Amino acid sequence: MPRTLRSLLAALLLSTALAGGGGPASSPGAPNSGGPSRSAPTLNGPTLKGSAPPGLRVGAAVSAALFEDPAYAALVAREFSSVTPENAMKWQATEANEGTFVYGLADAIVTWATRHGIAVRGHTLIWHDSAPGWLYQIRDAARMRQVMGAHIRALMTHYPQVTTWDVVNEAVSDAPGHPLRANSPFAVAGPDYIAHAFREAHAANPQARLYYNDYSADGINGKSDAIYALLRDLLAQGVPIHGVGFQAHLDETYDVTASRVTENLRRFRALGLDVHLTEVDVTLRGPPTPDALKRQARVYHDLLTACRAAGCSNFTLWGVTDLSSWRAAAYPLPFDDDGRPKPAHAALIAALRGPP
Ligand code: G3I
Repeated sequence: MPRTLRSLLAALLLSTALAGGGGPASSPGAPNSGGPSRSAPTLNGPTLKGSAPPGLRVGAAVSAALFEDPAYAALVAREFSSVTPENAMKWQATEANEGTFVYGLADAIVTWATRHGIAVRGHTLIWHDSAPGWLYQIRDAARMRQVMGAHIRALMTHYPQVTTWDVVNEAVSDAPGHPLRANSPFAVAGPDYIAHAFREAHAANPQARLYYNDYSADGINGKSDAIYALLRDLLAQGVPIHGVGFQAHLDETYDVTASRVTENLRRFRALGLDVHLTEVDVTLRGPPTPDALKRQARVYHDLLTACRAAGCSNFTLWGVTDLSSWRAAAYPLPFDDDGRPKPAHAALIAALRGPP
């Protein structure tokens, strides 16, 4: 399709989306029971996966609903070319007790995705928030390094078909100056515990692409500056880091341009890193009125446009439908409680089809 026609179509899609033509919003106060959707909307028209240019995967974090709700599963299969197990691969879920590994739900997700030709982002190997209690009892550096290596090797050798991993998640603090967070159990392993994790991951699967992942660092700010310095220095030491994930948990007031998101992502690309937006959601500050949905659609559009302008290779939503979201009460995703597309869906399609 000629470029100009693509651009015109994209602009038309965006204006339609921003005019609220992206389908019904969630009914205000819709019960966020987390259960199966009440009806399976029959959807046709452009999909996120089908609209994405070569080299860019569009993904979603998925949960057990993949196997409990046929409408949810159909939506994932239709719209996405990448999935991230929202919780099933975390340390608390897979090694709640030392040396005893449980893979049930994660196996089912990886099997389902493989069968549907959908890539899997492994999430996440080293994260303080999903560390079981026994990890916090370790006080010896050598033992912590050994335990980290054993966990990383277990997960990555169990899933050789998963070739993209969030190896370390949220290690940089939000405190002034943004040092490494002090409340991580892994700090016991020494100041180079991040390098250790990536080296263990690379040894476990030399083919895998290894990511550092964090939040509130999507634009140019003190935290993204600290992450930039951290990754630049680790790369200079030869640490095998291949990419950086920016979670992008945003709200409807976020200004992508004023936050200088494109400039931020580009500087990490200039380090030679792949860049993924890994956990995107855009919460509403109030009910899902047409104007609020338009504001949400604009943020989604501008964020994906910035992602493409910087050469991102993955744009993943943190959930599938509003009902399945960790922030369900704030209507954060492009599909409402029943899996119907909201204006944000058409806005994302426009961003995918527009000029990079
Ligand atoms: O599975 C147990 C269930 O057996 C138990 O009855 C129930 C009540 O205690 O808890 C269930 O586990 C919950 C789990 O989600 C699965 O639903 C945990 O308590 C709950 O803390 C966990 O929350 C997840 C959170 O990470 C912490 O792991 C959210 O769903 C998930 O969306 C959120 O995602 C994180 C990313 O991994 C990293 N970036 C930030 C993002 C948001 O916090």
